[in-house]
Amino acid sequence: MTPETADAFANHAAAYVHIPFCSAVCPYCDFAVVAGRDDLTERYVAALCAEIMGSEPWRPVQALYVGGGTPSRLDPGLLAMVLDAVERRHGIAGDAEVSLEANPEDFGPNFARTLRAIGFNRVSFGAQSFSAPVLSRLGRRHDAAQIEHAVLHARRSGFTSVSLDLIFGTPGESLDSWQHTVERTVALEPDHVSCYALTVERGTPLGRAVGNGAPAPDPDVQARAYQLADRRLGAAGYGRYETSNWARPGHECRYNLTVWAQGEYLAFGNGAHGHRGGVRFRNLRRIDAYIEAVERGETPRVGEETASGWASEIERLFVGLRRTVGVVPGSGGVALLAAPEGERLSQAGVIEVREGRLRVAKPLLGDEAMRAVLGLADPEVRENAASADTVSLDA
Ligand SMILES: C[S@@+](CC[C@H](N)C(=O)[O-])C[C@H]1O[C@@H](n2cnc3c(N)ncnc32)[C@H](O)[C@@H]1O
Repeated sequence: MTPETADAFANHAAAYVHIPFCSAVCPYCDFAVVAGRDDLTERYVAALCAEIMGSEPWRPVQALYVGGGTPSRLDPGLLAMVLDAVERRHGIAGDAEVSLEANPEDFGPNFARTLRAIGFNRVSFGAQSFSAPVLSRLGRRHDAAQIEHAVLHARRSGFTSVSLDLIFGTPGESLDSWQHTVERTVALEPDHVSCYALTVERGTPLGRAVGNGAPAPDPDVQARAYQLADRRLGAAGYGRYETSNWARPGHECRYNLTVWAQGEYLAFGNGAHGHRGGVRFRNLRRIDAYIEAVERGETPRVGEETASGWASEIERLFVGLRRTVGVVPGSGGVALLAAPEGERLSQAGVIEVREGRLRVAKPLLGDEAMRAVLGLADPEVRENAASADTVSLDA
């Protein structure tokens, strides 16, 4: 992907819809999710549709991302209502990317066909691993065969883009086991692969276990696992276009590219974050609070910040630098390179300016570059930028 192509996503119109329901909350997860609340699905979707229909009309969206949580837990009829509301209020462009996050165990042939018929054309499976012990440690309820069947059903139903999410660096997982997962992934020939280092989030069961002495992910093992995936996926024809994302040419996730280019995206549902008309906003995180606010006819938004000037420049670096094409340096990039930490990272070859673009040249050390970018901002901006990153990783 050329820098020009990546930057052009700044002009795309995108939308995110959050579906918080899960069969169980994974021990590492700190997203806005609920388990055991399926009694709320119809009320939640009614609230979502009301929020969508109450939003200021915009233009047809070119990328719509239905994420979670586990959207595939919903009845397709409810998912159709959500797409219909977006279509009626804003429009969905004829060639739009319409993505759904799905768990492999939910994705049978009938479900796949119905989703395709109601308008989804891209599916992102929460595969995580092909190793039974790792899946078990991650609290997952599917097995490797179910991942393979899900991909097959997606292909047979005419999904034009299929993605797998993988997690590496689970304590106790050997590099051989991770290599096995990468090989099984490549053999399935998905169009897109996301590889995330297992992150220990505070307040999660994993966070508490590690706090009580359970083994934490080993950064050296994670670094080797990342390099292994990067080499193997690259050799199989997948280009890395962001720190954690690889795609066959033309299958880069357009919703993510819009977020990373600081484009505008609507956001609906509990805990959802959006960016529109120069304003970054976020919704109430708790599902009950979100439903009740919408049912009372109130806005579910709890935070709105107008990012301008320096704050916006820092955000541009923060969301753009993770892309392989990097960013035009601009005033923020110049300040980064002049700051002592930026100078150190530049001398160490972690960041570089090449062909007029500022890039992270050593993605393994990308977090150091991100910390240096945040170091240029005041505390308030730092918080906003962190939430922008959460949005990008959510997807
Ligand atoms: C919001 S989740 C939802 C997708 C789907 N329901 C699932 O869990 O399989 C999106 C992706 O984020 C990744 N993820 C979530 N929490 C993580 C963590 N603590 N560390 C690393 N990756 C994580 C997982 O790969 C997951 O598929």
